Amino acid sequence: MAAVESVVFPATLLFWSLLIAEAQIMTRPACQPYCGGIEIPYPFGMKAGCYLEESFKLRCNSTSAAPILTVNGIDLQVRRIWVDDSTIEVDFPIVFANCGGKERNTVVDLEGSPFAFSKWNYFIARGCDNLALMNQNQSTIGGCISICDKNSESAMTTCTGINCCQTKIPSYLKVFNVTLKGVDDGKGKREDTECRYAYLVYQIWINERAYGIGYYGQNEAPYYMRDWDYVPVELDWGIDKRVFESLVKNGSFDNSSYTSHCEILNPSINSTNQSSTVQCSCTAGFGGNPYLDGVCREGASLSFYRRNIKAKMAGLGMLLHFHSIPVRILVAMTKT
Ligand SMILES: *[C@@H]1O[C@H](CO)[C@@H](O)[C@H](O)[C@H]1NC(C)=O
Ligand SMILES: *[C@@H]1O[C@H](CO)[C@@H](O)[C@H](O)[C@H]1NC(C)=O
Ligand SMILES: *[C@@H]1O[C@H](CO)[C@@H](O)[C@H](O)[C@H]1NC(C)=O
Ligand SMILES: *[C@@H]1O[C@H](CO)[C@@H](O)[C@H](O)[C@H]1NC(C)=O
Ligand SMILES: *[C@@H]1O[C@H](CO)[C@@H](O)[C@H](O)[C@H]1NC(C)=O
Ligand SMILES: *[C@@H]1O[C@H](CO)[C@@H](O)[C@H](O)[C@H]1NC(C)=O
Ligand SMILES: *[C@@H]1O[C@H](CO)[C@@H](O)[C@H](O)[C@H]1NC(C)=O
Repeated sequence: MAAVESVVFPATLLFWSLLIAEAQIMTRPACQPYCGGIEIPYPFGMKAGCYLEESFKLRCNSTSAAPILTVNGIDLQVRRIWVDDSTIEVDFPIVFANCGGKERNTVVDLEGSPFAFSKWNYFIARGCDNLALMNQNQSTIGGCISICDKNSESAMTTCTGINCCQTKIPSYLKVFNVTLKGVDDGKGKREDTECRYAYLVYQIWINERAYGIGYYGQNEAPYYMRDWDYVPVELDWGIDKRVFESLVKNGSFDNSSYTSHCEILNPSINSTNQSSTVQCSCTAGFGGNPYLDGVCREGASLSFYRRNIKAKMAGLGMLLHFHSIPVRILVAMTKT
């Protein structure tokens, strides 16, 4: 039962490190640290002088519960911001076709922004004899196909190719642009009027719904999203390399501190308007916000634990059970 021990131990550490992390200063001076109970760490912020640059500007609408991030004209409601592994969780639109007045084909283009879809998302599509494709720059970059079984309710509880299919997404995916089509069922019939839909979704969220473990609890129909409009998606973020270099050059960022570590997320990126991004984290034994000036404070950092948990969660559903414990604590603790 080594698996149990090795996870329960970090869970305890995690609890204490969270308490320590809680006391760390995460914003610039005189900046509002919360919006609707969600922590807003630098480089994110709501007022000028509080965010690093426009891409990290959030709107806090007093009538909504969460801050809004606008990327290339699309508003995304923020569920959580993590500095430790430079990710953000947002509510992301589901794409619908033929779903009784619920037509929607939102294209989300993160090109030119410091955000990208993280590898911790699945692409899931539901429909009968359905071909769901992801497009970027006029070409197909991924997708999946599901066969039809009108009498099967299995797509409610599983997603294995009958009425529902899923796949991983390419790394550094920047565009969500989906095409949904009916395909020939082998008898020459083609389903073109059936309700079909597709979405990106944060793996940990959908797994927890499917396996019924962790914070969100089990759901009878974890893949059935017809009545939903948005599902959680995780985005990676980082500081534009050119901005980062200018901060280091003018002395407002200490890139040589042993308390933190910065690295280029996507060195091979190569498009006219997209620069590489730089991600920073505290080194072991230090906590706080490395993005404030590159210097972390005495105290445990969460980054090691969260990265470790996520790496292990890539494994089996059985293991998921144990590795969900820390995630649940994380979620519970960060809800105020
Ligand atoms: C705040 O949210 C409400 C309801 O969603 C919306 O009608 C309003 O336009 C929003 N205001 C701003 C400033 O975004
Ligand atoms: C998009 O496709 C065009 C034509 O194939 C190509 O010239 C361009 O470099 C591509 N852009 C990106 C960002 O891949
Ligand atoms: C989405 O992808 C399709 C197929 O490649 C393309 O024709 C369309 O222009 C794309 N839409 C946007 C908004 O990029
Ligand atoms: C350093 O550069 C950044 C980005 O160009 C700028 O926002 C900041 O005000 C500069 N700081 C100083 C002390 O010049
Ligand atoms: C500064 O940060 C970059 C990451 O962009 C890294 O490659 C470089 O080695 C760092 N320089 C120093 C002196 O630490
Ligand atoms: C980027 O693209 C240009 C022209 O398309 C090419 O010459 C260059 O080698 C590419 N750089 C990398 C790092 O792939
Ligand atoms: C790149 O940026 C320039 C100037 O900001 C803009 O005119 C152009 O349309 C952009 N290209 C892409 C592919 O986004």
